[in-house]
Amino acid sequence: MRINKIRLSNFRNFKAQILEFSEKIIVIVGPNASGKTNIIEAIFLLSTGKSFHARVEEEMVHYEEEIGRVKGSVVEADKERVGTNLEVILTRGEITVGVSPKKTERIARKKLVVNGVARRLVDFAGRFKVVLFGPWDMSIVTGPPTLRRNFLDTVLSQVDREYRRASLSYEKGLRQRNRLLFRIREEGLSRSQLLFWDQLLIKNGNYLTQRREDFIGFANKRPSLNNQVFNIEYDKSIISQTRLEQYKDEEVAAATTLVGPHRDDFIFKIQNPNSKFQKERELSRYGSRGEQRMGILWLKIAELSFIESESEDKPTLLLDDIFSELDHEHRKIVLDVSKNQQTIITTADPHYIEEFEKIEIIKLK
Ligand SMILES: Nc1ncnc2c1ncn2[C@@H]1O[C@H](COP(=O)(O)OP(=O)(O)O)[C@@H](O)[C@H]1O
Ligand SMILES: [Mg+2]
Repeated sequence: MRINKIRLSNFRNFKAQILEFSEKIIVIVGPNASGKTNIIEAIFLLSTGKSFHARVEEEMVHYEEEIGRVKGSVVEADKERVGTNLEVILTRGEITVGVSPKKTERIARKKLVVNGVARRLVDFAGRFKVVLFGPWDMSIVTGPPTLRRNFLDTVLSQVDREYRRASLSYEKGLRQRNRLLFRIREEGLSRSQLLFWDQLLIKNGNYLTQRREDFIGFANKRPSLNNQVFNIEYDKSIISQTRLEQYKDEEVAAATTLVGPHRDDFIFKIQNPNSKFQKERELSRYGSRGEQRMGILWLKIAELSFIESESEDKPTLLLDDIFSELDHEHRKIVLDVSKNQQTIITTADPHYIEEFEKIEIIKLK
């Protein structure tokens, strides 16, 4: 599937905007603050049902308005018309009704719609797939573990409905279990109540662990990039009855669940076969900026291939303003990868795309 058309209404800085995308490489050119990242965010929203950077979702509604909408149609790669219509409706949780006196009415903050029918997140997401790459992704190497867990979740949620379901259920269960641990500590509640949540977390948690393992195994089979051999090592936190038993007193004392995939991480390693130092190094500590960028590129390419191999569907590649961060060598790799599927690129500076052939340019003011 690829994205064909998108219509933004009161979404971020766009009051009303329609954009059409071909199958080729599409470059969105515009000055700073013209809304390039907002368009990428809207496309990502249609794919995943979520924003990649809004702290609260109502932030995406135009600040003078009460309701924002993103509508889009996605089509099979080689077809023009028959497709699926996707829509995300965003609100601030209430709207004004009547004229005078004005009143407010509570409404849903978000509605996800497929071909006119409201859907739950698990059923909305993944209709068409994207791989997003922006300058912020550098912190997957250097930043805290949450960023790496989010990365794994984004990849796996796209291709696996069961993963989406398990991860929502796990998060909910985790909050409940932590609340209960707090009450056991504070109110002396019986531990027996934990049993239900233990089972729920073990069942869903193990699925998350297993799928994360699948992706990491896949990535580690990917070839080297620019003569640099990368791999990632899964630092997993297994959840099991034995492990929960082992940490039970500490968990009550901390009023928090201490084992499980919410504590997972992975370690990025690099090895340079031509260097006199044959040993693997940890990329975050011993890698140069250039090596770290190459590592992220390697990981993003692994993400693309994984999604393709799992779903037999090529994801759309979204590249938000990455060229100023990359040197010539990296740009060439990105250029090659862009040719393989629909790719939407944003940039403020069109000279970065001079090397690209067969592109379609969309200009923003
Ligand atoms: N909810 C909103 N309502 C109106 N404008 C918004 C909203 N959220 C962000 N913007 C505006 O969008 C612009 C930034 O868009 P962005 O996509 O980040 O630009 P670019 O990526 O082209 O530099 C800013 O001018 C910002 O004020
Ligand atoms: Mg931007």
